Amino acid sequence: LDNGVARTPQMGWNSWNFFACNINETVIKETADALVSTGLAALGYDYVNIDDCWSQWARNSQGQLVPDAKTFPSGIKALADYVHGKGLKLGIYSDAGIFTCQVRPGSLYHENDDADLFASWDIDYLKYDNCFNLGIKPQERYPPMRDALNATGRTIFYSICEWGVDDPALWAGKVGNSWRTTDDINDTWASMTTIADLNDKWAAYAGPGGWNDPDMLEVGNGGMSYQEYRAHFSIWALMKAPLLIGCDVRNMTAETFEILSNAEVIAVDQDSLGVQGRQVLVSGTDGCHQVWAGPLSKNRVVVALWNRCSKVANITAEWSALGLESSTRVSVRDLWKHEVVSVSKVASIGTKVEAHACEMFILTPQTVSSSEI
Ligand code: GLA
Repeated sequence: LDNGVARTPQMGWNSWNFFACNINETVIKETADALVSTGLAALGYDYVNIDDCWSQWARNSQGQLVPDAKTFPSGIKALADYVHGKGLKLGIYSDAGIFTCQVRPGSLYHENDDADLFASWDIDYLKYDNCFNLGIKPQERYPPMRDALNATGRTIFYSICEWGVDDPALWAGKVGNSWRTTDDINDTWASMTTIADLNDKWAAYAGPGGWNDPDMLEVGNGGMSYQEYRAHFSIWALMKAPLLIGCDVRNMTAETFEILSNAEVIAVDQDSLGVQGRQVLVSGTDGCHQVWAGPLSKNRVVVALWNRCSKVANITAEWSALGLESSTRVSVRDLWKHEVVSVSKVASIGTKVEAHACEMFILTPQTVSSSEI
């Protein structure tokens, strides 16, 4: 959607994966504080997104949505002011149906009023869910909120959360800034790998202004190992996915912080070319030795060697699989070791990869000097 945002995938934090309905204004404020004090905000994580359960169970007598009086007693405008004061942006959540997934009031048939209310609160981002949709096609339910947000005159990121049900990649590019391609993620290796594969199918539809959304990050929530979370973060960045942190950033381990703050991996996600990388090679038992890759700006290529087997393996990618001429020489930078590991002499890249690990590299073509010809 050409509304001035999402030139690169959105980055920030969302309350759902860790807190679910246990949210309140203190948690949101402390999260904004932590994003700034840890340095994550400076790395680009600038949206602070409130998910479901922020509102009362019913609209008020004027038909307006009302923040839950117990958990958000100061109201959303005050929270927006606080978050903006930290240099961050505030996101909110509603639903293209008569209720949200946790049965708070939805915005179907209230699009203009709710968009006006969100804009009056200085909201910067709307996640718009798909529960209780009365069986009406999403192509009829999602555009009215786009138009209502546009009519407010405020720039508001529009995140379509339709779970991939009606192949949103095929129609949502003109409707929203990102669209969920799958059902909800959970904090397991099986869920994360399944979702990566499902999201891959829609790579051709992603680009500046509109991104495939394989759901929010689970890094730091405890259900996967360090290597598995590193793979999750690497592949999400390679796929140009939204990088929305889903853990409690007030209480991160050093390992969680190391993953989420890897500026070189973040730069892959935020690369100006905006092309979603893809699964390019699958081999080994059950296809568990994988190569994922894609083009970056300045003729560079990002490559992930991903071992989805439970045993250590050697994984190799030939230049032909990466779209490089066989004569191309590249310098190879390891994005997790943070160093140039080699200048290629052969037309392939390969290394030993631990079980469930993902090694990630940027290949930068070298201009061949005259002495080498
Ligand atoms: C749906 C969405 C989730 C989350 C919950 C909240 O399941 O897909 O991301 O927003 O609703 O109820």
